Amino acid sequence: MNGKPTLPALGRRFFRPTWAEVDLSLLRANLRRFKARLPAGVRLMFVVKGDAYGHGAVACAAAAQRARAADWFGVSSVEEGVVLREAGVRLPILILGSLYPFESFLAAAEYKLTPTVASLESAKRLAEVSRRLGREVACHLKIETGMGRIGVSPAAAVEVLDFFSRQRIVELSGVYTHLSCAETSRVFTRNQLIRFKRVLRRCPRGVIRHAANSGAALRTPVSRFDMVRPGLAIYGLYPGFDPILSLKTKVIFLKNVPLGTSIGYGARYRTRRPSRIATLPIGYADGIFRGLSGKGWALLGGRKCPIVAVTMDMIMIDAGCAPEARVGDHAVLIGSQGKERISASDIAKILHTIPYEITTAISSRVPRVYRS
Ligand SMILES: Cc1ncc(COP(=O)(O)O)c(C=O)c1O
Repeated sequence: MNGKPTLPALGRRFFRPTWAEVDLSLLRANLRRFKARLPAGVRLMFVVKGDAYGHGAVACAAAAQRARAADWFGVSSVEEGVVLREAGVRLPILILGSLYPFESFLAAAEYKLTPTVASLESAKRLAEVSRRLGREVACHLKIETGMGRIGVSPAAAVEVLDFFSRQRIVELSGVYTHLSCAETSRVFTRNQLIRFKRVLRRCPRGVIRHAANSGAALRTPVSRFDMVRPGLAIYGLYPGFDPILSLKTKVIFLKNVPLGTSIGYGARYRTRRPSRIATLPIGYADGIFRGLSGKGWALLGGRKCPIVAVTMDMIMIDAGCAPEARVGDHAVLIGSQGKERISASDIAKILHTIPYEITTAISSRVPRVYRS
């Protein structure tokens, strides 16, 4: 050491009082609750892509692995899988995205990540990689049934399955599809499943068949097959499950201002009465969308206070409903305080989006603090 102070030596990792708290015991409880809704023998792939929807993939996957509450993990890329492997995650990991360039198959094999094959071309390239490595590698085949993203069409699947059956260097260990309307249309979902089942009839015995995300696994039992792939419900962003993330900060500035005072860029907000304005050190660079100006809320003193302006690093709220509030008091952007609660789903509704977008938008500069 050269005697320079380090953050850990100063006894803390962050100074700006803004952080996301993730409750790993609630995560484990959600996993158990989800598993309890499944018939025995159905495996659970916990989807931790997008840094576990912003909750922190390493901590979430490690907690699930330690509790033996998941059988697989799902990530979107080799990079996301490598991060988990380097952190000591040993369970099987499926890369849900299509791999390109095909050299990434080498990296996947190196880290024992199971790649998705989504075309005949990629099946052939994976076979080449296996031959180069001189060992068998396993993959899952993705069937396109209505999502319109990646995958082999049911018609083309015949040729790909034929290719797999003619060689021994790539093991087809799973076949899957993704349901695009699991929560919105039973008819569309049923038609997707019909297309998927047509392909399954041609698949070798013993492959793991999977299709269901949270909504499908909970609402459409026939979509469960051998494994389900929940994300949303495990993070508590689905009815019946407890949200595991809270986004917190503290008041850093408070002022009483007269009627007509302008607040924020463009002077878009002007107080309509003498007001008490609190400034919170969290902004759009942390994942608080500007669209929440004039529409969203922060909890302060156990009350819901309107957000009046959002800037890159700070937001201003009307703290009139929390007259006792002082600099240093806790404020909550997602989570509960007293009897009030703001969920990621509430924020998503205000912004006409989905809760996935709200939690994945919480940026890397917001420290994640884990509680168990
Ligand atoms: C292929 C795939 N499977 C499963 C999931 C998990 O879905 P959910 O979070 O709705 O449970 C996702 C998420 O988008 C996905 O892309």
